[in-house]
Amino acid sequence: MTQDRWTAVDSYINDLLVPPDSVLEAALEASEAAGLPAIQVAANQGKLLHLLARLQGARSILEVGTLGGYSTIWLARALPVDGRLVTLELDPRHAEVARSNLTRAGLAERVEVRVGPAVETLARLADEDAGPFDLVFIDADKEGYPDYLGWALRLTRPGSLVVADNVVRDGAVIDPASSDPRVQAMRRFTQLLADEPRLDATVLQTVGNKGYDGLAFALVVKDR
Ligand code: SAH
Ligand code: DHB
Ligand code: MG
Repeated sequence: MTQDRWTAVDSYINDLLVPPDSVLEAALEASEAAGLPAIQVAANQGKLLHLLARLQGARSILEVGTLGGYSTIWLARALPVDGRLVTLELDPRHAEVARSNLTRAGLAERVEVRVGPAVETLARLADEDAGPFDLVFIDADKEGYPDYLGWALRLTRPGSLVVADNVVRDGAVIDPASSDPRVQAMRRFTQLLADEPRLDATVLQTVGNKGYDGLAFALVVKDR
């Protein structure tokens, strides 16, 4: 019961619940044509992000890790017309593809793509008092997750939701002796979720056409 089965079930789910969408498909095609890695969230995960943003009634969203803007489009579509999304991306080539995809999606006015290392752009957002964001999606370099969580706490309010991708990594996260710095960072990240009194969190393992990984969900609370 592994990859082929997970992919087939994702197809079944997506056929029923995630209808074909020419804007999202064009974003994926343009990203591929530009040579971006196909590491965006799965379609049903994109829809989950969209539904969570709607459940939040989100008017402001922060994303860390844009790539070609695929998850950005799912999230931004949940915003009211006067809502806004800021998405942070290290690679100017990725940001350029994302801007073009967001323009095609009719979302350019609601979305700002900021280029640079997220530790710097996050510090800048805090300086600007850009928060509080109603939802934060963390999906950039895995080593940065512990820092990004700290910034997310500074840029949110009680009631905000923090979601993070890739927190299970084929199950590697349970190995305390892992020599992979991304795994060690994810272990620190999950420990921070556990220890931080301003967060109440859970993690779900996920399987599907992107393999075996996991998503973390943390509600910002006053105190736990
Ligand atoms: N959220 C996207 C996928 C993001 S992939 C989606 O689901 O559609 C991770 C992205 O993080 C890549 O584009 C990578 O260039 C970017 N990234 C890597 N290191 C970063 C850093 N230090 N700061 C900001 N972005 C970074
Ligand atoms: C990979 C997958 C991701 O979802 C991500 O955000 C970064 C990298 C990967 O499979 O390498
Ligand atoms: Mg990811």
